[in-house]
Amino acid sequence: MNSMIPKMSGEERREEGRFVLPEDEVRIFGAVAYMTVLEDRLTKIRLRRTWSYVQWKERETAAICLNMLPKDEQEGKHGEVAGAYMLQITPKQAKVTTHDPEGITNGLTTLYWMLREGGGACDCGTFTDAPACEHRGILLDSSRHFFDVETIKGMIEQCTLRKLNRLHWHLSDDQGYRLESGRFPRLNEIGSWRTEPDASRYGGFYTKAQIRDIVSYAGARGMQIIPEIDVPGHVSAIVAAYPHLSCSGEELEVKNMFGIHEHILCAGKDVVLQFVCCLLDEVMELFPYPYFHIGGDEAPKGEWKKCPACQARIRAEGLKDEEALQAWFTKKVLEHLQEKGRTAVCWNECMKSGELDARAVVQYWDEEEDAGYCKELAEGKRKCIYSYTPAFYFDYEPMLTPMRRMRNLKPVLRDGSQVAARNLLGVEATFWSERIEDRERLEKLAFPRLLAVAEAAWNGLEDYEEFVKRCEEHVRVLDEDGIRHYSMAEADLEGEAQKEAIIKEWKPMVEKARAAGMGHFVDILGRLVEKKLEGIMDEAMIQEMLAEFRA
Ligand code: ACM
Ligand code: ZN
Repeated sequence: MNSMIPKMSGEERREEGRFVLPEDEVRIFGAVAYMTVLEDRLTKIRLRRTWSYVQWKERETAAICLNMLPKDEQEGKHGEVAGAYMLQITPKQAKVTTHDPEGITNGLTTLYWMLREGGGACDCGTFTDAPACEHRGILLDSSRHFFDVETIKGMIEQCTLRKLNRLHWHLSDDQGYRLESGRFPRLNEIGSWRTEPDASRYGGFYTKAQIRDIVSYAGARGMQIIPEIDVPGHVSAIVAAYPHLSCSGEELEVKNMFGIHEHILCAGKDVVLQFVCCLLDEVMELFPYPYFHIGGDEAPKGEWKKCPACQARIRAEGLKDEEALQAWFTKKVLEHLQEKGRTAVCWNECMKSGELDARAVVQYWDEEEDAGYCKELAEGKRKCIYSYTPAFYFDYEPMLTPMRRMRNLKPVLRDGSQVAARNLLGVEATFWSERIEDRERLEKLAFPRLLAVAEAAWNGLEDYEEFVKRCEEHVRVLDEDGIRHYSMAEADLEGEAQKEAIIKEWKPMVEKARAAGMGHFVDILGRLVEKKLEGIMDEAMIQEMLAEFRA
């Protein structure tokens, strides 16, 4: 199976003979529910026109055997991380043995690739396979741009075909609130819509029925969805709907510009925490999984400094400052989630106070220069999802976040220290959607780079050249399936070509910003470009490029 990405990690014993998927009726032992996905996938590539399968009671005589065993009965050698499986193929049967549902979906995905490559048949043998990372994710931002259900499902399908297993779904931000709310209807009436600079209206939200449909679609493919409701910052849409939740109570609009906005939730008013807990309860009903993301990034403290209620809270709780107030607020939300049996995930800023509960998982994206508050990740004090911007921010074109960043990927922090291996839950590529307007661009930004994420999360990515060869073959699969993508060359531009591409892409934006009196944009862009390219582009070349922007 040369085209399957990620490749299998375990042992492979080839045997004589071929397994041919029966033409008429396919007998299934085990949970037939999983077969609808295989059916869908085989139908899509025309390996099936009609499909009928029956639940079969006998393990030995079924054509497909989904063999779920308790842990101690496990046959053969498997990894510890959820999703490990063994696939045994004989002329009569394809058997997946595992001890968790992710193992079943992974095994069936491998079988799909084998059958696809063999035109409905595959070679016999025994294969063991297990992922290195438990969390192999993408972040999809439905706030800045609202993607329809088909686009979301399309991404889920493309990800799960590569055994990515987590969708971190960013559903609330300054630019829109995207979930139907029965308890807080203004979140939809007001918070889901914004007025664009050209006066048009933009927005929408997912109904509860749509969310259930998506959760079930993802679940059948082995993917859990982690919803994110970002608090206390990035809340303009919520505050536009319910202005009393901010410190000033001032009316404001759902934002049509990206950036960091100063209105955040007031941490001094009791009603705010009641609102947040109530809202999270409503969201939790839709997402049945253990993790829940509560954001916590980029929460400016200007409002809290001026707010009598926030200052009273700081005094009453004996807190040091506004950072400690965010820690206090986060702790309250976290305790609420824990009462409901959930584990909170939050962005690395939540560690700033040094008081974040040890059970919270931190998603690392960046830390201000020399801040040092992320060192507890290197010390192995808590679980971490790694999404460091220079490698994993795929909302930037590959000229800025090239695929080769995944080569020998080490989860290093800004200061060069490394996340302790035992606490690394996994990795996640982000698709912030400020500049992703539609499905076409989303796919293009995703592929082929996401293949490298899938490979790195499953196997590490030590032999990059070997991976690139497989990738070139896999790109043909993307073409066959009609998935838009950058070419392999575009995904890994180097040197002059990379420099020219960046100038061509960004110079018009720099000029526009300067004309609008936003000269500081050049400095922000400069710092961003420098950081992203550090270590992969010659320093002199980086400076030449920045000079071009400043000219
Ligand atoms: C982030 O990019 N603000 C997490
Ligand atoms: Zn306040």
